[in-house]
Amino acid sequence: MIKAIATFFGIFFLSFTIQAQTCWKAKWIAIGYNEDTVTRPAQYFKKVFTINQPIKKAQLLITSRGLYEARLNSNKIGMGYLTPGWTSYNKRLQYQQYAVNNQLIKGSNELVITLGNGWYRGYIGWEGKDNIYGNQLALLCQLELTYANGKKDTIISDESWICGEGPVLDNDLLHGETFDANRVALFQHPVRLLNDGYTGLVPNDGVTVTTHETFTPQLIITPKGEQVLDFGQNLTGWVRVKVRGNKGDTIRLLHGEVLDPNGNFYNANMRSAKAAATYVLCGRGEETFTPRFSYFGFRYVKLAGITGTVNPADFTAVALYANMQPTGTFACSNPLLNQLHHNIVWGQKSNFTDVPTDCPQRDEKLGWTGDAQAFSRTATFNFDVKQFFSKWLNDLSLDQLPNGRVTHVVPDILAGVGGSAGWSDAATIIPWTMYEVYGDTALLRRQYPSMKAWVAYISSQSKNDLWNTGIHYGDWLSYRSTANREYTAHTDMYLIAQAFYAYSTNLLLKAAIVLNKEDDIKTYTILLEKVKAAFCREYVTPNGMLASNTQTAYTLALQFDLLPEDRRAEAARRLVKNIELYKYHITTGFIGTPYICHVLSRFGYTDVAYQLLLQETYPSWLYPVKMGATTIWERWDGIRPDGSLQNPGMNSFNHYAYGAVGDWMYQHILGIQADAAGYKTIIIHPLPGGNITWAKGSYASVSGKISVDWKIENGKFIMEVVIPQGTTATVFVPANDLKSYKKISGVQPGLHQFKGQ
Ligand code: BGC
Repeated sequence: MIKAIATFFGIFFLSFTIQAQTCWKAKWIAIGYNEDTVTRPAQYFKKVFTINQPIKKAQLLITSRGLYEARLNSNKIGMGYLTPGWTSYNKRLQYQQYAVNNQLIKGSNELVITLGNGWYRGYIGWEGKDNIYGNQLALLCQLELTYANGKKDTIISDESWICGEGPVLDNDLLHGETFDANRVALFQHPVRLLNDGYTGLVPNDGVTVTTHETFTPQLIITPKGEQVLDFGQNLTGWVRVKVRGNKGDTIRLLHGEVLDPNGNFYNANMRSAKAAATYVLCGRGEETFTPRFSYFGFRYVKLAGITGTVNPADFTAVALYANMQPTGTFACSNPLLNQLHHNIVWGQKSNFTDVPTDCPQRDEKLGWTGDAQAFSRTATFNFDVKQFFSKWLNDLSLDQLPNGRVTHVVPDILAGVGGSAGWSDAATIIPWTMYEVYGDTALLRRQYPSMKAWVAYISSQSKNDLWNTGIHYGDWLSYRSTANREYTAHTDMYLIAQAFYAYSTNLLLKAAIVLNKEDDIKTYTILLEKVKAAFCREYVTPNGMLASNTQTAYTLALQFDLLPEDRRAEAARRLVKNIELYKYHITTGFIGTPYICHVLSRFGYTDVAYQLLLQETYPSWLYPVKMGATTIWERWDGIRPDGSLQNPGMNSFNHYAYGAVGDWMYQHILGIQADAAGYKTIIIHPLPGGNITWAKGSYASVSGKISVDWKIENGKFIMEVVIPQGTTATVFVPANDLKSYKKISGVQPGLHQFKGQ
């Protein structure tokens, strides 16, 4: 006897991948009525079927063009949102598998699927384009039943389904969602069979997007008299609303990230994204509403249409992001740095929504390659991101052009536009980062042809080993002085391109070594030498000055080992001089930011790295923290020192790229480093400095959890370290004067205490 238990939380969602044995019998179906082609409301599909014997196993395989939400006997199937997820739909489309035994009941069952516009045909990007992949939503699903007596049955999407419209009206990932509670789904129409096959269908290979933290707001009445909710945290997700009122009353929630300088609601930086959630009441007591076919990046919500008193407890912000396993913790004696760490983690939570996005709020929400590569190493510390990036890299390779050019956004919606240094290099940087962190050669091997093709593309654009053609984003959003200031940071875009040519070639060479590609090892060893020589010829004076006298130029030259050994110390000195010139302020953009502190500590200037990191005035990492940021800003001065806001055309308050310094905080403040791929051997090498008197944290590596906890007490350095089973570590213990280190090799698994001398 099958029990009719169909609780939401009882649903067991299978996220493991199903292999090729899936045998599709279902037919693609679409609505059989003329839709309103302007508003394009959600589409509802229904199948009623009877179960009259006990069930042993029931699994639903499902995918759609557009987003789907599946309900069996009114209960949502699975914990995931924004399914089937975003892939390069014209090449591959994921399907999901759910065990639904517990949701079936004896007798009549009702399977209802709602389709929203989503990435498939909703608006994407700033060019006002929709229908990027097609203009028709469609559903494919099959419910595979195994009865207790061993007999099998399959219920498939086919001509027996019925369809119609329902309460979800407008629905769009950029513009929001409208729900009219006076409408019920009316299944008055037959469906239309599409003559489409199963080409391109792939088992789910991403990380399911699920709900996470919740926040209750404070109500603010702004100087303009607006009712604004402040959730205290910038996040990605939606607001769950409880409301009472009359039939036809309409409430509208507008999302924003900051208030304007006068304390009023502000959303000009959303650009063309309307980012609105609208609910029409049916007037039957307490009603609840949560959007499902859109999501928003916000901290503030402006309410419209509420009559009577607003009760903040009726509004709950729900964070939505990929269900990744948290792996890192970080805390230290400086509360501002702890807030910076918090902001980095929330930058990641807010932008790891199925694909790594640049930002979650304005008319982009795109998988920008440059942002993703800059942040990828930091991302690995906070969460297990192997599967998340593996899925996305798959699309990166699929969207790569036949000539090897890597697109600027993945999935590509910009018609193949790509090739910028530091953006398209995601093709080499992220696979190598995944290998270093997770020690798995399979992903590296899968991506190797794509890595090779990208380097071949650069070579094809270069002359005499110099990549000085094409348009590049350069050191995007680096510090620019205002006109009346003496200095400005601006790094030549071709110098950057040449540096990344060398870096990508080097990573390809390293991959060739790991994968034993003998011919390639020879080829890329020679190429790397030539590319570095060309860099020095073109951009370095005999006295070691770089053509661009900027922090980013010196950082790249040193981080990527572009200079001969005997010129490096001088270049590091010049970098420090430049930092002094800017009174210990950072002037790097997306390109230089991830590496500058690494370079400083590598060349013996950890004190300068700390001065940059702990700088509290603009431009610096802590300036936004001092201004109340709860996530990483896109620009160093999203809110200027005088309180005014940067140009709304490019001013997101939730862009993770500058958060790339998180990697340095884990590797050098805590001192947790991988000595071999996958942390099979470990280095613990904390670099105490600045005003920090203690730091503690951990990292759950694939080889086990590593912990570090150090403090300086009465002028003495004391550290506890936990090394996981199956690994060994080399520990560097700072002397009490913090000027020299004692190296202890072969430290075994377990808890150890070390003291400075
Ligand atoms: C995005 C960036 C991206 C850039 C390309 C912007 O609009 O938000 O983060 O990398 O374009 O330069």
